[in-house]
Amino acid sequence: MNIADSELIDGILQKEGYNLTTNIEDAGAIFINTCAVRDHAEAKVHSRLGLFNKIKKNNPKVIIGMLGCMAQNLKDEILANKPYVDIVLGPDSYRNLPKILNKRILEQKHIVDTELSRYEVYDGLFPSRKEGINAWVSIMRGCDKFCTFCIVPFTRGRERSRSPESIIKEIRKAIAIGFVEITLLGQNVNSYEYNNVDFTNLLEQIANIEGLRRLRYTSPHPSDINEKLLKVMAVHKNICNSIHFPLQSGSDQILIRMNRTYTKEHFLFYAKKIREIIPAVGISTDIIVGFPSETETDFNDTLEVMDSVKFDSAYTFKYSPRPYTKAIEYDGQISEEVKQKRLERLISLQKEHSLLRNREMIGKIMNVLVEKESKRSNAFWSGRTDSNKWVTFKKDGTKVKDIIPVRITSAQGVTLKGQIER
Ligand code: 5AD
Ligand code: SF4
Repeated sequence: MNIADSELIDGILQKEGYNLTTNIEDAGAIFINTCAVRDHAEAKVHSRLGLFNKIKKNNPKVIIGMLGCMAQNLKDEILANKPYVDIVLGPDSYRNLPKILNKRILEQKHIVDTELSRYEVYDGLFPSRKEGINAWVSIMRGCDKFCTFCIVPFTRGRERSRSPESIIKEIRKAIAIGFVEITLLGQNVNSYEYNNVDFTNLLEQIANIEGLRRLRYTSPHPSDINEKLLKVMAVHKNICNSIHFPLQSGSDQILIRMNRTYTKEHFLFYAKKIREIIPAVGISTDIIVGFPSETETDFNDTLEVMDSVKFDSAYTFKYSPRPYTKAIEYDGQISEEVKQKRLERLISLQKEHSLLRNREMIGKIMNVLVEKESKRSNAFWSGRTDSNKWVTFKKDGTKVKDIIPVRITSAQGVTLKGQIER
């Protein structure tokens, strides 16, 4: 989401005559687009701001801006403790950036704009995209789910969807400049709703766009998943057979306390449906360990769901207490040591499952989109299968952006190797 927002910001500034520099020392203004979802993300921004401060000491004229979720969340702290930050701008204020930049050039005053909007979807503004493979296209912003661990509803505000016309126009433009894959983005993509067009309707309309070779989306919410959506995914060849299906926890008690609004049973039901309806699908997930009051039994429920679904991959996190959220006030906060141990157990189980899923692919022929040169050798390409797995294989006269049949020959860890099938 932040990559997409940064392209949008770049687009807004380029329209006003600003350009990107590759050398930070040459910059007249430096912006950092921030994430507040976990403490770790924030820590990285603080350390980067320290570097910008050093640059500013050598060049006091440089303007430093902090944009995005942390700006929304930490504006007072930043203003008090980091006076070298000139501009603080929340995720709904990017349109104002050129005006604010001009104002800051004229006046030596801090400028803060963190107003959240019920309507801003950045319609009519085109992100600046260099030629590439995948274009991120934001279809909705904000979130109304209020999971009790999550800061997003506070930093990004209320849920709102972009018009299908403007989404389709942006996608056509991306295809015209050479993009072959589109990933639709939203905090909750399947909550999409615009004048009776729901997410499934939108996905179908987009899949029918001429020249679109691959279509992905992230992230859906398990409560808003339905068979109609899965069937549309199965029918359209260019909708990738890959789905991110965030579990968070496998314990019903914890799911209630997280306000996730689904049960373990619902999750397992749809995980099964996904594999039934979409052939050779890849399922990834997000899991949090150490949510307040999580017992060994709750944690084992999570491992049990993992065992039953055997996710292809998982993003795993230790619970990180976030300001404004309900869970920060919950009793039963878990020690760092227990969180760490649970995380390690989770990661090791997931490694087994990823390997198992990858080994199932050996001998099969997959359509792979050639994306880049392999890090190991310039005689090899790396590309992704429809189901979102990286494969390396000999170039054999093929070129970037080709979609070619590759027979999988080996699976070590998470890396697949293959050879082009002629
Ligand atoms: N602590 C740990 N992980 C979190 N996530 C969101 N908020 C927190 C938090 N407070 C994770 C969830 C979500 C992903 C984007 O980040 O798993 O799906
Ligand atoms: Fe956060 Fe939950 Fe909304 Fe996802 S659905 S952005 S986890 S509040």
